[in-house]
Amino acid sequence: MTSFWSWYIILLTGGTLVALTWLIFATRKGQRKDTTEETLGHAFDGIEEYDNPLPRWWFMLFVATLVFAVGYLILYPGMGTWKGIFPGYEGGWTQVKQWEKEMDKADEKYGPIFAKYAAMPIEEVAKDEQALKMGGRLFASNCSVCHGSDAKGAYGFPNLTDHDWLWGGEPEAIKTTILNGRQAVMPAWGEILGEPGIRNVAGYVRSLSGLKNPEDLGIDIAAGQQIYQTNCVVCHGAEGKGMQAMGAPNLTDKVWLYGSSFAQVQQTLRYGRNGQMPAQKDFLGNDKVHLLAAYVYSLSQNNKDQ
Ligand code: HEC
Ligand code: HEC
Repeated sequence: MTSFWSWYIILLTGGTLVALTWLIFATRKGQRKDTTEETLGHAFDGIEEYDNPLPRWWFMLFVATLVFAVGYLILYPGMGTWKGIFPGYEGGWTQVKQWEKEMDKADEKYGPIFAKYAAMPIEEVAKDEQALKMGGRLFASNCSVCHGSDAKGAYGFPNLTDHDWLWGGEPEAIKTTILNGRQAVMPAWGEILGEPGIRNVAGYVRSLSGLKNPEDLGIDIAAGQQIYQTNCVVCHGAEGKGMQAMGAPNLTDKVWLYGSSFAQVQQTLRYGRNGQMPAQKDFLGNDKVHLLAAYVYSLSQNNKDQ
């Protein structure tokens, strides 16, 4: 801030406070001490005003707001370049510093608990009730935006409670996913295969999980299979069961990340898909990720239906 604007704020704020203080004491000075039946002589809608002094408690309230304002200005930054003298905040109070302080406090309190769990195998942590409660809370604040508060996912965001894994459901695989993130690469095939090719291979892929294709489009499943064998087995495997090393989904089950309708599957093939799971390593750190991995692992372990 330039010193002109700094002084502008200081004079404006300070001047207003001084003026208000003067105003409240000046108007009080000429006032009578006792109450009276006399009116000031004017009426609004039949309501008249007595010539009584301001009640004392009311006056004190005004004074209190003035004292509060001065205290506030001394403690917090805001008056021009004044940084404030809030105790414990060297160089002035800021929201960021307050947040950092609170985080440090939380780390001090919970750090040892996180560290204790981080030293245990994920399968063990997944059986510990307190750990799962903490993991659930971490999940709610860091993961539910994308995966849903019940972790059942949504369009483009995988369900974490089933036994169908893109990148692997072993405890260590889940931890690696959360720690380092994942970047899925499903290439776009529109220009390479052309519309008839997209139609045929979409029909073939849907047939793998027993879905019925529209009959009026002249879909050639055999031609689609041919395209699949040439272009898709590298990632999805010869039988279409997927490949976790690439994050390539199993195409023979009933789980669809991007929808199973004929239009949606064609869309996937035409333009490709690039689902991204953001890395949490630098953000949450190893210990919290360990706890989250246990929580996520427990979700599918406790879900016996699927
Ligand atoms: C380079 C590896 C690779 C190749 C080659 C590839 N895919 Fe994929 N495919 C992926 C990945 C990875 C995903 C997951 C994308 C995501 O999660 O965002 C995917 C997703 C899909 C999906 C969406 C599944 C769902 O659950 O919604 C379909 C359908 C699909 N691929 C079909 C094909 C077909 C057909 C071909 C061949 C024409 C093909 N893929 C070639 C890697 C590949
Ligand atoms: C910005 C959205 C977003 C957030 C936030 C997010 N994820 Fe994900 N996550 C994804 C997407 C998208 C995928 C799928 C990537 C792909 O297409 O392969 C994924 C995949 C995963 C997988 C792999 C699932 C499988 O089938 O292999 C796990 C496990 C996971 N996330 C856990 C978490 C946890 C735990 C958190 C919280 C720390 C989290 N995610 C936060 C978007 C997100």
